[in-house]
Amino acid sequence: MNPPSLAVDAPWIVLKFGGSSVSTVSRWQQIAALATTRRQEGARVLIVVSALAGITDALHALYKASATQRPSEAMLIVAQHQHLAEKLGLHRPKALRTQLDALVSLCSCPSHSSSELAWRAELLAQGELLSSTLGAAYLNAQGLHAQWLDARLALLATELPHRNERTRLLSASVRARPDQAWSEALAARGELFITQGFIARDRSGQTVLLGRGGSDTSAAYFGAQLAAERVEIWTDVAGIFSANPHQVPDARLLTQLDYEEAQEIVATGAKVLHPHCLSPLRRSRVPLRIHDTANPQLPGTLIGPTKASTAPSVKGISARRGITLVSMESVGMWQEVGFLADVFAYFKRHGLSVDLVGSAETNVTVSLDPTENLLDSDAVARLADDLSTICRVKVIAPCAAITLVGRGMRGMLHRLSPLLAEFGEHHVHLITQSSNNLNLTFVVDEGLADELVPRLHSLLLRTGVLRADDPLCFGASWRSLYGQDKAAPSVPWWHAQRQRLLDLAEQGPCYVYHLPTVRARARALRHIGAVNRWYYAIKANPQQRLLQVLAEEGFGLECVSPGELQRARGATAKTSRLFSANFASQEDFRLATQDPNTLITLDGLHPLQHWGLWFRDRDIGLRIDLGRGLGHHEKVRTGGVFSKFGLALDDLDAFLDLAKRIGARVTLLHAHLGSGVLDPHHWVRVYAELAGLAERMGTVAALDIGGGLGIPQYPDEAPLDLDALAEGLAEVQRVYPQYELWMEPGRFLVAEAGVLLARVTQIKSKKTLQYLGVETGMNSLIRPALYGAQHPIINLSRLHAEADTLYQVVGPICESGDILGKDCRLPRCREGDVLLIANTGAYGAVMASQYNLRTPATETVIE
Ligand code: LLP
Repeated sequence: MNPPSLAVDAPWIVLKFGGSSVSTVSRWQQIAALATTRRQEGARVLIVVSALAGITDALHALYKASATQRPSEAMLIVAQHQHLAEKLGLHRPKALRTQLDALVSLCSCPSHSSSELAWRAELLAQGELLSSTLGAAYLNAQGLHAQWLDARLALLATELPHRNERTRLLSASVRARPDQAWSEALAARGELFITQGFIARDRSGQTVLLGRGGSDTSAAYFGAQLAAERVEIWTDVAGIFSANPHQVPDARLLTQLDYEEAQEIVATGAKVLHPHCLSPLRRSRVPLRIHDTANPQLPGTLIGPTKASTAPSVKGISARRGITLVSMESVGMWQEVGFLADVFAYFKRHGLSVDLVGSAETNVTVSLDPTENLLDSDAVARLADDLSTICRVKVIAPCAAITLVGRGMRGMLHRLSPLLAEFGEHHVHLITQSSNNLNLTFVVDEGLADELVPRLHSLLLRTGVLRADDPLCFGASWRSLYGQDKAAPSVPWWHAQRQRLLDLAEQGPCYVYHLPTVRARARALRHIGAVNRWYYAIKANPQQRLLQVLAEEGFGLECVSPGELQRARGATAKTSRLFSANFASQEDFRLATQDPNTLITLDGLHPLQHWGLWFRDRDIGLRIDLGRGLGHHEKVRTGGVFSKFGLALDDLDAFLDLAKRIGARVTLLHAHLGSGVLDPHHWVRVYAELAGLAERMGTVAALDIGGGLGIPQYPDEAPLDLDALAEGLAEVQRVYPQYELWMEPGRFLVAEAGVLLARVTQIKSKKTLQYLGVETGMNSLIRPALYGAQHPIINLSRLHAEADTLYQVVGPICESGDILGKDCRLPRCREGDVLLIANTGAYGAVMASQYNLRTPATETVIE
């Protein structure tokens, strides 16, 4: 059924489908359905198609084949189209037969065109001519009145100087501008058209090709000429991701980009779109949407003129391989007029385009990008030869260019330090920052890219430099959209407790802890059979009721101060305890030795050297520094020389000597490297290292591999894989079966069980920023100020309203650092609304203070 005729000025929508989107019956059904819905929206539709999957390659093969092989190669192509036509229920459509005959005659008399290259262009154009002909027949058979349009009549290639015949014919470009007369003429002819991607004509009417990614570029040219409402690119992935998802499954879908950012991302490596297709659209301000043909319900990526008010964020990281660096050294270059002009003249002469440039007093280093240059080692060698007449030349290859892209890159430098630290161990050949402030690029040895990009992407997420929590820019991760291990998103417990929480918030700011969640986390850990004893690190949250629940679940309690020991004893006297204080006083240790059921762990020589008496004839633990730390922030990493924790390995023998002399037995060897770790292999490595040391020591019965089990910090971050942890620990324990295995998590058990509730007090605007004040701040929750930690913030009073406003959520404390959440997208808030700050059950209330003499949030435990 066709919708009623459209108004004369009805807008155009251009839909482009790639090879795999035009090769099956179901895809053509979808194309018909999409054309219909777009027309029902009141738009005219132009469909641009690629050749069927595999046909462009088959035409290449045909071109290369000998004259005698050509007819059989051509018949394969004919058969593939006839087969699809039949499956589409088309009975040998006449137009398709004519087009197939044209292909056959074209390859039997190659010389009918003016040149070999012209014939090649003509031949390769057949793929799109065939698929569009087939498509027109199918759409008409569905009653859609689609008109076949010859793209060559609409797209005229631009004559550019310095172009050889090859690029003129096989890699042409079109200067596409809104063309009202043409658009009106087309509108007068009909409402639905189907045409070819990849092809255009030159001034003489000869067929020319648009080069790699040509069909996207065609769609963009058509979109610009028609001043379309939008161009939609239908392909095999939902859109542009924040990194190559095959390398980084946690890469996030970029749901919205402006032209410049998108241009930068596709130019530096994303393969979804060809970089050339954005400039015609940018010039005519036509938006472009990318969609997954197989999953049309997914949001896709929208590239458009609007610069939405989004949180400043790195949008993506990419790596281009095959980069060649040319380093040019000349002592006399400083202030020498024309040196660069001389140098670059050689690049021009060899037809090599330069990408990145770094310069110093005596050195200029540039990169050659293989996507822009037809690079062969001879071309580079010839260039180097010529350059060596004016400077010393060094060619460094193969390299990879790792690029961070985001609007306002220079304004984000201060947040990049954890990323920069990752480069510390590697030699960086060149760093450049684009003058449009959109990218920062590091050139390293090519072999490093595979390892570095996933690590850097994960850091971008963990440090919040890539604002995955901003739904205006970022969608789900590739893993959750396409991964095998898609888990159903779990709804946090507080959804079901909403009214109760709103009532509790009436009394003022408060933390609420949900005991069933604590039990669930405890049981999930107890499933890990390899662990013989679990201790709860009570520093995370020493609420009496939580301690009791965890003791009931079989957890001992790990304490680090006399106060914690007393709290643990008060909650549950029978439960076994660890006392692993750091830089505690003699008096603290004396108290600990009097605490029953308590094993004391030391992490330095001083206690044994000076207060040996307290440890005579006792079993003790030893915390060792394995020389490295890790965790969600540098302030929670507890290893290496810059950390005050643990006994240095160099002191191990001295410690053992002292212990022996005093008559203390080291029965527990312990290491805790840091907090907020999501890599399950970390604890497996720690166990193996401790076991290796314990074998030397002889007295050790148990290995405590610490806590530090992290929880996801940003939306969609993959949680700690407990199955992998269980498997890894079971495996390493089979190698060292003589030791008991102990662990002492804190955060994992309680973080997600806690929320902080606080009511909105005031709202203030400053230029583009909106400050949203709540009744408590860093005096209740210091983690955002101290570690830049991200806690999801939700307006509980308006849970289901659209989150359309960007807020800086702040407290009432007299410090500029009193921020609970930066750039939080929330529904428009009002004074009195209750905000919920999630995942605050660990290191929340316990780190609160009376600063400004403001009483911090109270605490409530609910079943
Ligand atoms: N064992 C020892 C020796 C520890 O020092 C800690 C934490 C744990 C176990 C428990 O770590 P967990 O499983 O909770 O990550 N205030 C910081 C965390 C500091 C952790 C201190 N030690 C934060 O808010 O992230």
